[in-house]
Amino acid sequence: MKEEAFQFSYKVYDSINELSPEDAFLLEQAQKVTEEAYVPYSRFRVGAVAKLANGKYTHGSNQENASFPAGLCAERVLLSAASSLYPGIPIDSIAISYRNHQDQSDHPVSPCGICRQSLQEYEQRFKQPIRLILGGAKGRIYVIPKASLLLPLAFSAEEL
Ligand code: THU
Repeated sequence: MKEEAFQFSYKVYDSINELSPEDAFLLEQAQKVTEEAYVPYSRFRVGAVAKLANGKYTHGSNQENASFPAGLCAERVLLSAASSLYPGIPIDSIAISYRNHQDQSDHPVSPCGICRQSLQEYEQRFKQPIRLILGGAKGRIYVIPKASLLLPLAFSAEEL
């Protein structure tokens, strides 16, 4: 028997003012994109904006449905948009922001498990890490160098 461990490091910034201008811009765009969310049920708005390897930007917001499981998270709306509008182009970075029904948004929120699965497959498909910039409308920001770090021992297409 041997024991193995998983660990990863990520950067924590006290505020958006500490980010590079490029990352700050991406996070500001994600904050704005929360306005496009369709969230009559949860009233929890999520916005995600990607910078692609060709310098273009694309975005997604969460889109809910009265049949709740039919709703989509902002991250997967974004990945579908990127793959449809810019096929074959890897994603460099994604900023994700949110606000709740009381417009509170003061700490980073992480992608849900299903979105982690989708993000890790996008990385694997393009053989390129996707940096995640997670932050609210204010407060601390996490920069995670590679999305798949959030899903150790992931199930992957290689198993099929
Ligand atoms: N949501 C996202 O858009 N991304 C996540 O990673 C977590 C959850 C959405 C789904 C649903 O519309 C609302 O937030 C509440 O769960």
